[in-house]
Amino acid sequence: MATHVQGVVVREPRGPVSIETIVVPDPGPGEAVVDVAACGVCHTDLHYAEGGINDEFPFLLGHEAAGTVSAVGDGVTEVQPGDFVVLNWRAVCGQCRACSRGRPQYCFATHNATQAMTLRDGTVLTPALGIGAFAEKALVAAGQCTKVSAEAPPEVAGLLGCGVMAGLGAAINTGGVTRGDSVAVIGCGGVGAAAIAGANLAGAHTIIAVDIDDRKLETARRFGATHVVNSATVDPVEAIRGLTHGNGADVVIDAVGIPATFEQAFYSRDLAGTVVLVGVPRPDMRIDLPLLDVFGRGGALKSSWYGDCLPSRDFPMLIDLYLQDRLDLGSFVSERIGLDEIPAAFQRMQAGDVLRSVVML
Ligand SMILES: NC(=O)c1ccc[n+]([C@@H]2O[C@H](COP(=O)([O-])OP(=O)(O)OC[C@H]3O[C@@H](n4cnc5c(N)ncnc54)[C@H](O)[C@@H]3O)[C@@H](O)[C@H]2O)c1
Ligand SMILES: [Zn+2]
Ligand SMILES: [Zn+2]
Repeated sequence: MATHVQGVVVREPRGPVSIETIVVPDPGPGEAVVDVAACGVCHTDLHYAEGGINDEFPFLLGHEAAGTVSAVGDGVTEVQPGDFVVLNWRAVCGQCRACSRGRPQYCFATHNATQAMTLRDGTVLTPALGIGAFAEKALVAAGQCTKVSAEAPPEVAGLLGCGVMAGLGAAINTGGVTRGDSVAVIGCGGVGAAAIAGANLAGAHTIIAVDIDDRKLETARRFGATHVVNSATVDPVEAIRGLTHGNGADVVIDAVGIPATFEQAFYSRDLAGTVVLVGVPRPDMRIDLPLLDVFGRGGALKSSWYGDCLPSRDFPMLIDLYLQDRLDLGSFVSERIGLDEIPAAFQRMQAGDVLRSVVML
């Protein structure tokens, strides 16, 4: 018996975001259905809605969620009904060339549900990042459910499902930030602010927040930025060098993902330093750098998908740090909204008014 729930769908590029009735099948083998309690609004949902990710419309948006498992299919051992879980988009396969070399955080064959959620007329929906959680229930692969302490409020726990994990992991996992490092983060929305929190948690000595919006720089201080730079008025490369004895930062994280910020990151890192690209570029974007500079400056240019996280390792640990008051995940939640307020939340995100709007279901 499939269930009918309300969910948020976009049918065509830049088309309206509408609430529709979604048909959620009962979980089959290896699948689970989750009663979604909270789902954050991520910039990537907007990328989907604008056709910037792929053209597999219609999309069922939402992918940054926590909730309670309501049913599991045959053979599911990872979770059981009643478990409080964060949904992840990295259900590792255990068998691909990355997994078999002991690097499951790079798994190249991650699992999603086998069955599809559909509209009432049978139209198959593409769930954002294989999740689709702007809906009262979501059908996912059981491995996409990561059990965490139920003491954490769902609107906080769900943030680890995407943007906040991507930012924390960009600093800690991909950037390898460690005690005494200097770090600069360009773009201090939800992802960048989390990168700042991650650098702080890892013991970075200097943490420079860069944004074009002073409100974001204020928030960045709350998450541990030691210095702030408004790059709308100041050259960020000069400013970062100035704050690091003329050298540049050990790790520079681009949490915007456009050619201009990538170039700033490239030139504001120290020799042998690391650039981490965690912001998602659009398909038409190009960069043009002197190859001699790429060579001559040494170090590493890395990309960070989902903060190179391993959900089973990172989610429970980060929730525990939150419950111990050592990681301020609560401050990422700017507002709690209803499903019908998602278009307005996209506007507030673009206007820079919020870090995270979280839909409560
Ligand atoms: N790699 C991943 O796994 C992953 C996961 C989630 C999100 N993302 C991506 O990360 C990016 C940021 O997401 P978000 O949710 O934090 O978005 P957001 O809209 O909340 O934040 C973007 C921030 O960048 C700032 N900004 C914009 N242009 C700038 C510029 N030229 N220089 C400096 N700052 C600038 C804005 O003022 C804002 O504070 C998006 O591209 C999103 O798709 C990546
Ligand atoms: Zn794998
Ligand atoms: Zn996301």
